[in-house]
Amino acid sequence: MKIAICGKGGVGKSSIATLLCEALCEKGYQVLAIDADPSPHLARLLGFEEAEKITPIAEMRDLLQQRAEKDGPFYSLNPKVDDLPEKFMLKRNGLKLMVLGAVREAGGGCACPEQTVLRRLLSLLLLQSKEAIVIDLEAGVEPFGRATISAIDAVLIIVQPYRGSIETARQIAKMAKDLGVKNIFFVANNILDKEDLLFIEKELGVSVLEWFPRDEELLRLERSGKPLIDAQGKVRQKALCLAEKLETALTHGKS
Ligand SMILES: Nc1ncnc2c1ncn2[C@@H]1O[C@H](COP(=O)(O)OP(=O)(O)OP(=O)(O)O)[C@@H](O)[C@H]1O
Ligand SMILES: [Mg+2]
Repeated sequence: MKIAICGKGGVGKSSIATLLCEALCEKGYQVLAIDADPSPHLARLLGFEEAEKITPIAEMRDLLQQRAEKDGPFYSLNPKVDDLPEKFMLKRNGLKLMVLGAVREAGGGCACPEQTVLRRLLSLLLLQSKEAIVIDLEAGVEPFGRATISAIDAVLIIVQPYRGSIETARQIAKMAKDLGVKNIFFVANNILDKEDLLFIEKELGVSVLEWFPRDEELLRLERSGKPLIDAQGKVRQKALCLAEKLETALTHGKS
Protein backbone atom coordinates (compact mmCIF):
# COMPACT_ATOMS: atom_id res chain seq x y z
CA MET A 1 0.00 0.00 0.00
CA LYS A 2 1.09 3.54 -0.84
CA ILE A 3 -0.09 6.05 1.75
CA ALA A 4 0.42 9.82 1.79
CA ILE A 5 0.06 11.78 5.02
CA CYS A 6 -1.04 15.38 4.76
CA GLY A 7 -2.78 18.24 6.53
CA LYS A 8 -2.28 21.79 7.71
CA GLY A 9 1.10 22.81 9.12
CA GLY A 10 1.86 21.48 12.60
CA VAL A 11 -1.15 19.14 12.90
CA GLY A 12 1.04 16.08 13.56
CA LYS A 13 1.77 14.69 10.07
CA SER A 14 5.37 13.71 10.80
CA SER A 15 4.52 12.30 14.23
CA ILE A 16 1.72 10.12 12.90
CA ALA A 17 3.78 9.11 9.83
CA THR A 18 6.52 7.93 12.20
CA LEU A 19 4.15 6.03 14.48
CA LEU A 20 2.46 4.44 11.45
CA CYS A 21 5.79 3.30 9.96
CA GLU A 22 6.67 1.63 13.26
CA ALA A 23 3.24 0.01 13.55
CA LEU A 24 3.43 -1.37 10.01
CA CYS A 25 6.92 -2.76 10.70
CA GLU A 26 5.57 -4.38 13.85
CA LYS A 27 2.85 -6.00 11.74
CA GLY A 28 5.51 -7.53 9.51
CA TYR A 29 5.55 -4.98 6.68
CA GLN A 30 8.65 -3.84 4.82
CA VAL A 31 8.19 -0.08 4.99
CA LEU A 32 9.66 2.65 2.80
CA ALA A 33 9.20 6.04 4.46
CA ILE A 34 9.58 9.05 2.17
CA ASP A 35 10.13 12.47 3.71
CA ALA A 36 8.67 14.81 1.09
CA ASP A 37 8.78 17.89 3.32
CA PRO A 38 11.30 20.48 2.07
CA SER A 39 12.22 20.91 5.74
CA PRO A 40 12.73 17.22 6.59
CA HIS A 41 12.47 15.83 10.16
CA LEU A 42 11.47 12.24 9.64
CA ALA A 43 14.99 10.82 10.05
CA ARG A 44 15.23 12.23 13.59
CA LEU A 45 11.72 11.10 14.54
CA LEU A 46 12.41 7.60 13.19
CA GLY A 47 15.69 7.44 15.12
CA PHE A 48 18.08 7.38 12.16
CA GLU A 49 21.48 8.83 12.82
CA GLU A 50 23.67 10.28 10.07
CA ALA A 51 20.63 11.68 8.28
CA GLU A 52 22.91 14.14 6.50
CA LYS A 53 24.58 11.27 4.62
CA ILE A 54 21.47 10.40 2.67
CA THR A 55 21.33 11.43 -1.00
CA PRO A 56 18.05 13.23 -1.76
CA ILE A 57 15.95 11.36 -4.30
CA ALA A 58 15.73 14.50 -6.41
CA GLU A 59 19.18 13.37 -7.58
CA MET A 60 17.60 10.20 -8.86
CA ARG A 61 16.20 12.10 -11.82
CA ASP A 62 18.94 11.04 -14.20
CA LEU A 63 18.50 7.42 -13.15
CA LEU A 64 14.83 7.55 -13.92
CA GLN A 65 15.51 9.17 -17.27
CA GLN A 66 18.03 6.46 -18.13
CA ARG A 67 15.57 3.79 -17.11
CA ALA A 68 15.47 2.24 -20.54
CA GLU A 69 19.24 1.79 -20.68
CA LYS A 70 20.23 -1.78 -20.07
CA ASP A 71 22.80 -1.29 -17.32
CA GLY A 72 20.79 1.30 -15.37
CA PRO A 73 19.21 0.33 -12.06
CA PHE A 74 15.76 0.95 -13.47
CA TYR A 75 16.04 -1.23 -16.53
CA SER A 76 13.31 -3.37 -15.08
CA LEU A 77 9.93 -2.23 -16.33
CA ASN A 78 8.45 -2.82 -12.94
CA PRO A 79 11.10 -1.73 -10.45
CA LYS A 80 10.73 -2.89 -6.88
CA VAL A 81 11.71 -1.11 -3.70
CA ASP A 82 14.70 -3.49 -3.47
CA ASP A 83 15.96 -2.20 -6.87
CA LEU A 84 16.41 1.32 -5.51
CA PRO A 85 20.09 2.21 -5.15
CA GLU A 86 21.32 2.07 -1.54
CA LYS A 87 22.83 5.55 -1.55
CA PHE A 88 19.36 7.07 -1.60
CA MET A 89 18.28 5.50 1.64
CA LEU A 90 18.93 4.79 5.28
CA LYS A 91 17.99 1.28 6.43
CA ARG A 92 17.09 -0.48 9.64
CA ASN A 93 15.42 -3.88 9.96
CA GLY A 94 12.19 -3.63 7.99
CA LEU A 95 12.39 0.13 7.51
CA LYS A 96 13.92 2.28 4.76
CA LEU A 97 13.93 6.05 4.62
CA MET A 98 14.31 8.29 1.58
CA VAL A 99 14.35 12.08 1.57
CA LEU A 100 12.88 14.00 -1.32
CA GLY A 101 15.03 17.08 -1.37
CA ALA A 102 17.39 18.98 0.87
CA VAL A 103 16.23 22.30 2.25
CA ARG A 104 16.42 24.77 -0.60
CA GLU A 105 18.13 28.09 -0.26
CA ALA A 106 16.06 31.23 0.14
CA GLY A 107 14.94 32.27 -3.32
CA GLY A 108 16.20 28.94 -4.64
CA GLY A 109 13.25 28.61 -6.97
CA CYS A 110 10.85 25.89 -7.92
CA ALA A 111 10.73 22.40 -6.44
CA CYS A 112 9.51 20.91 -9.73
CA PRO A 113 12.43 18.50 -10.35
CA GLU A 114 11.94 16.88 -6.93
CA GLN A 115 8.21 16.64 -7.46
CA THR A 116 8.67 15.03 -10.87
CA VAL A 117 10.98 12.39 -9.41
CA LEU A 118 8.55 11.61 -6.61
CA ARG A 119 5.62 11.35 -9.00
CA ARG A 120 7.48 9.00 -11.34
CA LEU A 121 8.80 6.92 -8.48
CA LEU A 122 5.37 6.48 -6.94
CA SER A 123 3.79 5.46 -10.19
CA LEU A 124 6.63 3.09 -11.19
CA LEU A 125 7.32 1.22 -7.97
CA LEU A 126 5.57 -2.09 -7.77
CA LEU A 127 4.84 -3.23 -4.22
CA GLN A 128 4.53 -6.75 -2.88
CA SER A 129 1.63 -7.55 -0.56
CA LYS A 130 3.50 -6.93 2.71
CA GLU A 131 5.23 -3.76 1.54
CA ALA A 132 4.14 -0.22 2.32
CA ILE A 133 5.22 3.27 1.34
CA VAL A 134 4.43 6.06 3.82
CA ILE A 135 4.98 9.61 2.51
CA ASP A 136 5.17 12.55 4.89
CA LEU A 137 4.04 15.43 2.68
CA GLU A 138 4.69 19.14 2.81
CA ALA A 139 2.01 21.00 4.81
CA GLY A 140 -1.17 22.29 3.20
CA VAL A 141 -2.64 21.87 -0.26
CA GLU A 142 0.46 22.48 -2.37
CA PRO A 143 1.42 18.82 -2.98
CA PHE A 144 -2.08 18.27 -4.38
CA GLY A 145 -1.93 21.32 -6.61
CA ARG A 146 1.15 19.78 -8.25
CA ALA A 147 -0.49 16.37 -8.69
CA THR A 148 2.66 14.83 -7.22
CA ILE A 149 0.86 12.19 -5.28
CA SER A 150 -1.80 10.93 -7.64
CA ALA A 151 -0.30 7.42 -7.84
CA ILE A 152 -1.15 6.39 -4.29
CA ASP A 153 -3.70 4.11 -2.66
CA ALA A 154 -4.79 6.40 0.16
CA VAL A 155 -4.34 9.81 1.69
CA LEU A 156 -4.55 10.25 5.44
CA ILE A 157 -5.56 13.80 6.24
CA ILE A 158 -4.52 14.71 9.76
CA VAL A 159 -6.90 17.10 11.45
CA GLN A 160 -6.98 18.83 14.83
CA PRO A 161 -10.03 20.22 16.62
CA TYR A 162 -9.85 23.76 15.29
CA ARG A 163 -11.46 25.39 12.27
CA GLY A 164 -8.27 26.28 10.36
CA SER A 165 -7.13 22.68 10.32
CA ILE A 166 -10.58 21.43 9.33
CA GLU A 167 -10.86 23.90 6.43
CA THR A 168 -7.48 22.80 5.06
CA ALA A 169 -8.52 19.16 5.50
CA ARG A 170 -11.68 19.75 3.46
CA GLN A 171 -9.72 21.49 0.70
CA ILE A 172 -7.20 18.64 0.57
CA ALA A 173 -9.97 16.03 0.47
CA LYS A 174 -11.55 17.74 -2.52
CA MET A 175 -8.26 18.06 -4.39
CA ALA A 176 -7.30 14.44 -3.67
CA LYS A 177 -10.69 13.31 -4.96
CA ASP A 178 -10.26 15.41 -8.12
CA LEU A 179 -6.88 13.73 -8.64
CA GLY A 180 -8.62 10.37 -8.54
CA VAL A 181 -7.33 9.14 -5.17
CA LYS A 182 -9.74 6.36 -4.20
CA ASN A 183 -9.30 6.24 -0.44
CA ILE A 184 -9.41 9.49 1.47
CA PHE A 185 -9.36 9.13 5.26
CA PHE A 186 -9.31 11.65 8.09
CA VAL A 187 -7.30 11.04 11.25
CA ALA A 188 -7.93 13.24 14.29
CA ASN A 189 -4.96 14.28 16.40
CA ASN A 190 -4.36 16.04 19.70
CA ILE A 191 -7.75 15.01 21.05
CA LEU A 192 -8.40 15.96 24.67
CA ASP A 193 -11.97 14.79 25.13
CA LYS A 194 -15.11 13.52 23.41
CA GLU A 195 -16.16 17.03 22.51
CA ASP A 196 -12.99 17.53 20.42
CA LEU A 197 -13.74 14.46 18.36
CA LEU A 198 -17.42 15.32 17.98
CA PHE A 199 -16.49 18.81 16.78
CA ILE A 200 -14.21 17.42 14.07
CA GLU A 201 -16.67 14.79 12.88
CA LYS A 202 -19.57 17.23 12.83
CA GLU A 203 -17.58 19.79 10.84
CA LEU A 204 -16.28 17.21 8.38
CA GLY A 205 -19.61 15.40 8.13
CA VAL A 206 -17.87 11.99 8.30
CA SER A 207 -16.28 9.73 10.91
CA VAL A 208 -12.53 9.74 11.27
CA LEU A 209 -10.64 6.51 10.58
CA GLU A 210 -8.73 6.80 13.88
CA TRP A 211 -7.95 9.41 16.54
CA PHE A 212 -4.86 10.13 18.60
CA PRO A 213 -5.04 11.72 22.06
CA ARG A 214 -3.00 14.71 23.14
CA ASP A 215 -0.10 12.74 24.52
CA GLU A 216 2.44 13.84 27.12
CA GLU A 217 4.87 11.08 26.12
CA LEU A 218 5.02 12.39 22.53
CA LEU A 219 5.64 15.92 23.76
CA ARG A 220 8.38 14.75 26.12
CA LEU A 221 10.13 12.66 23.48
CA GLU A 222 10.03 15.49 20.96
CA ARG A 223 11.38 18.06 23.39
CA SER A 224 14.23 15.82 24.48
CA GLY A 225 15.13 15.12 20.83
CA LYS A 226 14.46 11.39 21.22
CA PRO A 227 12.96 9.34 18.40
CA LEU A 228 9.19 8.81 18.54
CA ILE A 229 9.73 5.13 17.95
CA ASP A 230 10.44 4.98 21.69
CA ALA A 231 6.78 5.77 22.39
CA GLN A 232 5.27 2.87 24.31
CA GLY A 233 1.92 4.11 25.56
CA LYS A 234 -1.46 4.97 24.11
CA VAL A 235 -0.24 6.47 20.82
CA ARG A 236 1.59 3.27 19.95
CA GLN A 237 -1.63 1.30 20.42
CA LYS A 238 -3.52 3.85 18.34
CA ALA A 239 -0.96 3.56 15.54
CA LEU A 240 -1.35 -0.22 15.52
CA CYS A 241 -5.15 0.18 15.25
CA LEU A 242 -4.65 2.66 12.40
CA ALA A 243 -2.35 0.23 10.56
CA GLU A 244 -4.91 -2.53 11.03
CA LYS A 245 -7.75 -0.40 9.66
CA LEU A 246 -5.69 0.68 6.65
CA GLU A 247 -4.75 -2.91 5.94
CA THR A 248 -8.41 -3.93 6.03
CA ALA A 249 -9.57 -1.00 3.90
CA LEU A 250 -6.82 -1.26 1.28
CA THR A 251 -6.31 -4.97 0.88
CA HIS A 252 -9.95 -5.95 1.09
CA GLY A 253 -11.08 -7.54 -2.14
CA LYS A 254 -7.67 -7.17 -3.83
CA SER A 255 -5.61 -10.36 -3.80
N1 LIG B 1 -0.97 13.74 19.77
C1 LIG B 1 -0.02 14.60 20.15
N2 LIG B 1 0.16 14.87 21.47
C2 LIG B 1 1.11 15.74 21.86
N3 LIG B 1 1.91 16.41 21.01
C3 LIG B 1 1.79 16.17 19.71
C4 LIG B 1 0.82 15.25 19.19
N4 LIG B 1 0.92 15.24 17.84
C5 LIG B 1 1.92 16.08 17.52
N5 LIG B 1 2.44 16.66 18.64
C6 LIG B 1 3.51 17.66 18.70
O1 LIG B 1 3.14 18.75 17.85
C7 LIG B 1 4.28 19.26 17.17
C8 LIG B 1 4.05 19.21 15.66
O2 LIG B 1 3.97 17.83 15.28
P1 LIG B 1 4.53 17.33 13.87
O3 LIG B 1 5.91 17.83 13.66
O4 LIG B 1 4.29 15.88 13.80
O5 LIG B 1 3.53 18.12 12.91
P2 LIG B 1 3.63 18.30 11.33
O6 LIG B 1 2.22 18.35 10.84
O7 LIG B 1 4.52 17.28 10.75
O8 LIG B 1 4.30 19.75 11.24
P3 LIG B 1 4.89 20.44 9.90
O9 LIG B 1 3.69 20.97 9.15
O10 LIG B 1 5.74 21.52 10.46
O11 LIG B 1 5.63 19.40 9.14
C9 LIG B 1 5.46 18.42 17.63
O12 LIG B 1 6.11 19.09 18.67
C10 LIG B 1 4.82 17.14 18.15
O13 LIG B 1 5.59 16.52 19.16
MG1 LIG C 1 6.22 17.50 9.52
